[in-house]
Amino acid sequence: VSGPEQYRPGIHYTPRRNWINDPNGLLHHNGLFHLFYQYNPLSSVHANMSWGHASSIDLLHWEEHPVAIPCDANEQIFSGSAVFDAHNSSGLGTTDNPPLVAVYTSAYTEASPLAGRQAQSLAYSLDGGTTWAKHAANPVLDRGSANFRDPKVFRHTHGEASYWVMVAVEAEAHTVEFYRSDNLTDWAHLSSFGPANATGGVWECPDLFELPVDGDPDTTRWVLVVNLNPGGVAGGSGAQYFIGNFDGTAFTSENTITNSSATGQERLREYGWLDWGKDYYAAVSYNDAPDRRRIMTGWMNNWDYAADVPHGPWRGAMTLPREVTLTRQHGVIRPAQRVVAEVDDAFQARPSSSIGPAGIPGGIQLLTTHDADAPQRIDAVITRGTATEFGLMIRGGNGHGTRIGYNTSTGCLYLDRTKSGVVAFNPLFASIESVPVDLVNGTLALRIYLDRSSLEVFTADGLATITDQIFPLETTQELSAYANGGSATLDSLTIGYLS
Ligand code: FRU
Repeated sequence: VSGPEQYRPGIHYTPRRNWINDPNGLLHHNGLFHLFYQYNPLSSVHANMSWGHASSIDLLHWEEHPVAIPCDANEQIFSGSAVFDAHNSSGLGTTDNPPLVAVYTSAYTEASPLAGRQAQSLAYSLDGGTTWAKHAANPVLDRGSANFRDPKVFRHTHGEASYWVMVAVEAEAHTVEFYRSDNLTDWAHLSSFGPANATGGVWECPDLFELPVDGDPDTTRWVLVVNLNPGGVAGGSGAQYFIGNFDGTAFTSENTITNSSATGQERLREYGWLDWGKDYYAAVSYNDAPDRRRIMTGWMNNWDYAADVPHGPWRGAMTLPREVTLTRQHGVIRPAQRVVAEVDDAFQARPSSSIGPAGIPGGIQLLTTHDADAPQRIDAVITRGTATEFGLMIRGGNGHGTRIGYNTSTGCLYLDRTKSGVVAFNPLFASIESVPVDLVNGTLALRIYLDRSSLEVFTADGLATITDQIFPLETTQELSAYANGGSATLDSLTIGYLS
């Protein structure tokens, strides 16, 4: 493929045309995954924010629908969430036909009497999410704030009690505000969390959910997700997490760091991050996913350069959906992520695409060419020998390529996209990301998803991920291995394509 569709991913969601940012209203209902998102129906810049809509039965194939909640003269429809109000607690539907309710941020325009404010509003659907009407008495929660946004609402049941909980941010104050309601319209303040850990930018798009630790239903923790822009670990936008407890009223964090001697970038690296790349932002999870799975998706972009990425008739993409679990490692509870099985299982190795074992002498060694247009999963196991650095070069050729490798002196996996292809559209794009990773018996196992204009790298059983966009030149189709300062061994490499 060449021309304007050259960078269109095959399995990452993109709209046919125009701008998108955050995923919104993620909800599984009646066998469908609903993906709403920040959308400009008119052009490829961030303006006229409305909720676009797509749905999928399997998180792999997406169908785009008409705009769900359009902006108007008085308000832009900023980020938020959606719930199935099964008992019609809101009264917006009927007992026989209970509504889906979207809770979004009204960002009031100059034309509105509430100009300059951000408050929380409702829209509802009585036809399973196809058409939406705004609640007549909006907003339902107005603190008089200019930066109160991105409500995530979910049903919370503990003991005898069951009620709706909302988490939303005071973006500039770096707090998450907790509210409860019985009817989605009257909200009572419960508590406030923050500032804590990374506060180098606004706090946006929070999420809160409970997960078992290592699959044990009797040992659970709550994860509070706080997206941050700028001030993320890779620069610009990033998704930070806190792990702790939520007692129905307040969240207490177990991984807040208050007494570190580290400063600047080193300090940021001590905090919890869902991803260490530059392109995982506004990550939030689905409500009501089957089997109590916790599935998250992020906007695969960064406010540092989102306005400039050379996409095509559209601008912006979602990451692959990821299933999140909690696991204890060296006594510390951490999130582990994998691409959902629905997507992961779709990749199958072609007989000719398995390579290794093979020595990687010092330097760079061509392994094969890879199909530039096809979404693919590359699984590689590499054992360090005498090399100080080793890894793979993806979409290489003519002096270009993206390096995904391990640096034995820093103990980090890194992704270097400084020579990945088209990089000059914004000075902040050409970057090197890294995440601390322990080798296991000297071995690094990588699972890499390449989909034309993106790389999502998973390692260490999903404890470390790096998500980065790339815009390779059409002619760069080499897949190579490299070792610096000595040799390494490629134990195995397999390329899986969609079956
Ligand atoms: C995050 C964000 C949200 C806001 C939305 C506006 O990327 O800034 O805080 O609701 O985008 O499009």
